[in-house]
Amino acid sequence: MPLLGFDSAIYCIGIVYASAPDNDVAVKTVKLRKVYGANVAVDDLDMTLKKGEILGLLGPNGAGKTTTGGMITTRVLPTSGYAYIGGVDVVAHPAEAKSEIGVVPQSNTLDRSLNVIQNLYFHGRYFGIAKKQARSMAAELLERFKLAESASLPVSALSGGMAQRLMVARAIMHSPTVLVLDEPTSGLDPQSRLALWEILRELNQEGQSVLLTTHYMEEADELCDRIAIMDHGRLLAQGSSLELKRDLGGDSSLLMKVAGNSTVLVEKLVAEVGADSTTKIIASDGGLKMVGHNVSQLISVAVSAAEALGLRVYDLSLVEPSLETVFINLTGKELRD
Ligand SMILES: Nc1ncnc2c1ncn2[C@@H]1O[C@H](COP(=O)(O)OP(=O)(O)OP(=O)(O)O)[C@@H](O)[C@H]1O
Ligand SMILES: [Mg+2]
Repeated sequence: MPLLGFDSAIYCIGIVYASAPDNDVAVKTVKLRKVYGANVAVDDLDMTLKKGEILGLLGPNGAGKTTTGGMITTRVLPTSGYAYIGGVDVVAHPAEAKSEIGVVPQSNTLDRSLNVIQNLYFHGRYFGIAKKQARSMAAELLERFKLAESASLPVSALSGGMAQRLMVARAIMHSPTVLVLDEPTSGLDPQSRLALWEILRELNQEGQSVLLTTHYMEEADELCDRIAIMDHGRLLAQGSSLELKRDLGGDSSLLMKVAGNSTVLVEKLVAEVGADSTTKIIASDGGLKMVGHNVSQLISVAVSAAEALGLRVYDLSLVEPSLETVFINLTGKELRD
């Protein structure tokens, strides 16, 4: 996204790179750590958000997501380690870093003494946008985020979904390199959640890099190009949803119900595919169950075997690994614990 002239000027003067900047990287943390007393909230976190992607930071309550976001966005001072926004060290150069970040915090931080459009206007002014331009940008953003009719309302009159849309509009007004959202759909009704997903997808398609913390697996799954899973301040794994499920999600299960005696079918399938021993084939209520990494590729084999024995297949289902099973395999507990 283009930088505003005012911000570019600061940007060029103020920066000292601690290491060679990587042009493809929007956010990078290096051994980033935050300790509160005896509690290690974030534990030597190495994480990268590439330019143009949506990275999901997924973890249960208390995992350290907000603290991580807080350090990246300069609100929380790290105990040790580094966070860079496009090569700018956020601790050494907080003002420059701030101009590159748009933040949507976990709680509503709209200014209650201002109305809806004023919340945008004064944000723009704070970031050095000239009065006339700030006014027109604010109006355009309200139009885009379907809030134009509420321009003069106090922010207390907005629904949760509308307030969240206004916070996203405010966060992108100064054209930040990175948009950081902390649990943005928490507490929203399903319709408002979908509307916000749509907005984030659209912004991302225009090139916006996004760091999104969430504890909703389906949100991470739907929206994010890559997902970083964290718990107890530690990064446990990062990759695309598909990669995580494939590498860490464990086995898939194929359940097949047949009319007739399934014992002979189990024997036939064991003889045909079971010899590799990575696939378990067992009789189950009214049919059989195949468990393994590649059982989805065995659907036609299983159906053909049943047909060859004259057994009618009346139900077939495949249970794929999910982010939940990835998390359970990594931590031994459920994500929502
Ligand atoms: N200001 C603070 N002072 C002391 N401890 C803190 C502070 N902020 C966070 N913590 C602790 O750090 C750990 C991580 O908290 P954090 O808020 O980052 O987790 P989270 O993943 O965002 O959780 P949630 O899903 O509930 O928002 C928790 O144990 C929390 O109690
Ligand atoms: Mg949090």
